[in-house]
Amino acid sequence: MTPNVRPLIAGNWKMHGSLAEAAALSGAVASGAASAPPAADLLVCPTFLHVASVAAAMKGGAVAVGAQDCHANAKGAHTGDISAAMLADAGATFVILGHSERRADHGETDAVVKAKTEAAIGAGLTPIVCVGETEAERRGGQAESVVAGQLAGSLPEGFAAAGGVIAYEPVWAIGTGLVPSEADIAAIHGMIREKLVAAFGEAGKTLRVLYGGSVKPNNAKAILALPNVDGALVGGASLKAEDFLAIAAAA
Ligand code: 13P
Repeated sequence: MTPNVRPLIAGNWKMHGSLAEAAALSGAVASGAASAPPAADLLVCPTFLHVASVAAAMKGGAVAVGAQDCHANAKGAHTGDISAAMLADAGATFVILGHSERRADHGETDAVVKAKTEAAIGAGLTPIVCVGETEAERRGGQAESVVAGQLAGSLPEGFAAAGGVIAYEPVWAIGTGLVPSEADIAAIHGMIREKLVAAFGEAGKTLRVLYGGSVKPNNAKAILALPNVDGALVGGASLKAEDFLAIAAAA
């Protein structure tokens, strides 16, 4: 945790669930958060198709809603794409950008992520920019340099002013049950903090840096207690309200 920074516990629902399941999960998260308010901001990020209905369900409560991607352009002839303004109009206030699954599945480069982040900020959304090394990069001793390169390439000038969030998600820890050692998480998060301060000055000291990758109720407390870990980006465990709320309660 960073002193005086309110943690953010974010659920990335990825490509899961029906409308009915999203409604049930939203309801359970909202009522759990209302009956036992955690010491953290809460966010859920359903698939595009469910953003409007989940945002309507969360309206007036403590749980924010985000999307998992947006297009870099404000509008135009981009069949199948979704703009940041459309997401804001549907009730989203956050958007995850540059997730490793998008970098891998859709060939998103740092330059693409930077353009999308600019678009998100322009539409008034808070961007959550994901960075993280692969298993081969970690084994090759390149974890810090890969993440530093992604930060340098993905963050636009207005990132700090928009209260942008970073999520460090080692690719090899996503969905695998593997988690870096506490020392390794602290080392990367410390490096990210240094880069944020170097890029954005004083404002970089309080930007939130989330950890993501196999965060579960049983490891959340130890991870969230580490220096410069200001929350979590949770995949699998965010699909169960009980587990997501337990992670939030550990913040
Ligand atoms: P898991 O929590 O399922 O490992 O997923 C992490 C993630 O990719 C969140 O964006």
